Amino acid sequence: PESELEAHFEHTIERDQRVEPRDWVPEGYRKTMVRQIAQHAHSEIIGMQPEGNWITRAPSLRRKAILLAKVQDEAGHGLYLYSAAETLGTDRGELTEKLIAGGQKYSSIFNYPTLTFADVGVIGWLVDGAAICNQVPLCRSSYGPYARAMIRICKEESFHQRQGYELLMTMMRGTAQQREMVQEAVNRWWWPSLMMFGPPDADSPNTAQSMAWKVKRHTNDELRQRFVDMSVPQAEALGVVFPDPELRWNCEREHYDFGTPDWDEFKNVLKGNGPCNAQRVAHRRRAHEDGAWVREAAMAHAAKKEVPA
Ligand code: 3HC
Repeated sequence: PESELEAHFEHTIERDQRVEPRDWVPEGYRKTMVRQIAQHAHSEIIGMQPEGNWITRAPSLRRKAILLAKVQDEAGHGLYLYSAAETLGTDRGELTEKLIAGGQKYSSIFNYPTLTFADVGVIGWLVDGAAICNQVPLCRSSYGPYARAMIRICKEESFHQRQGYELLMTMMRGTAQQREMVQEAVNRWWWPSLMMFGPPDADSPNTAQSMAWKVKRHTNDELRQRFVDMSVPQAEALGVVFPDPELRWNCEREHYDFGTPDWDEFKNVLKGNGPCNAQRVAHRRRAHEDGAWVREAAMAHAAKKEVPA
């Protein structure tokens, strides 16, 4: 009976054990896992566009090779996550159709433009850095396939962050103009990076339930604070400053105090009015349409190989 199944599910969560695809789960758990994993997968795929924009214009062969590897990694992260979502009964084709119809969320951060090559370094350092802050705890998420995908993704993400930081270190040892490029990119990406962690806990409709089901292991504000505390010393080592006059160490709290992100901007980007939302979705739609012949050919080939009934 359902009450026994419900008790078993609760017990699994309580003992920090994994929920697996064949286990019974409450409908709300399935729905929130599909919601979060699908958005995470879409974020990885859409996230290929801002950086991909610089592959043909990288300043050296070494930088081109590193950027190519990183963008390919993001595609792989998307595939691991679509596979995890499919264990919950969705289909990556359906999720993609919804995405290109503008009906699915992906991380707000990817709706900002990459205006100079310094953006490639700042994305690696701050965006992948924020993603690591968010994804390391998700390795302990209660849904098995999601947590296991995170373990692989986090290993590759740390390479992404290091290459970005090293790129910026190189530029900071360059000309005054290169140092200005880095600071200008930091000014544009800092606040959107803080928004990656989601709205304040008080405005987060999903956090309480996601914490109870151990989908999330920390709240949005806890992870945002952890990211700020981690990033300030790195900025000092790099020789850049964050565009926040309220940023200062609070020795009582033993954390950095910082200003309030512009939540109206955040809501506006989520509504589809960010600088690049339309471009990102249109690009994804075009790639999907251009790739239709490959999918059709693969299906036709598979059908030919099927043993006749
Ligand atoms: N961008 C877009 N939508 C966001 C958002 C953001 N930065 N932050 C929150 N939202 C949405 C939520 O999806 C939710 O809408 P929904 O109910 O329609 O899904 C609404 O805003 C309210 O937010 P909540 O805090 O209540 O929602 P969550 O509990 O889902 O928390 C989250 C949001 C922290 C992003 C959580 O979903 C999460 O941890 N997701 C997995 C991590 C992820 O998606 N990371 C993407 C980072 S980019 C990346 O990984 C690529 C990297 O390799 C560069």
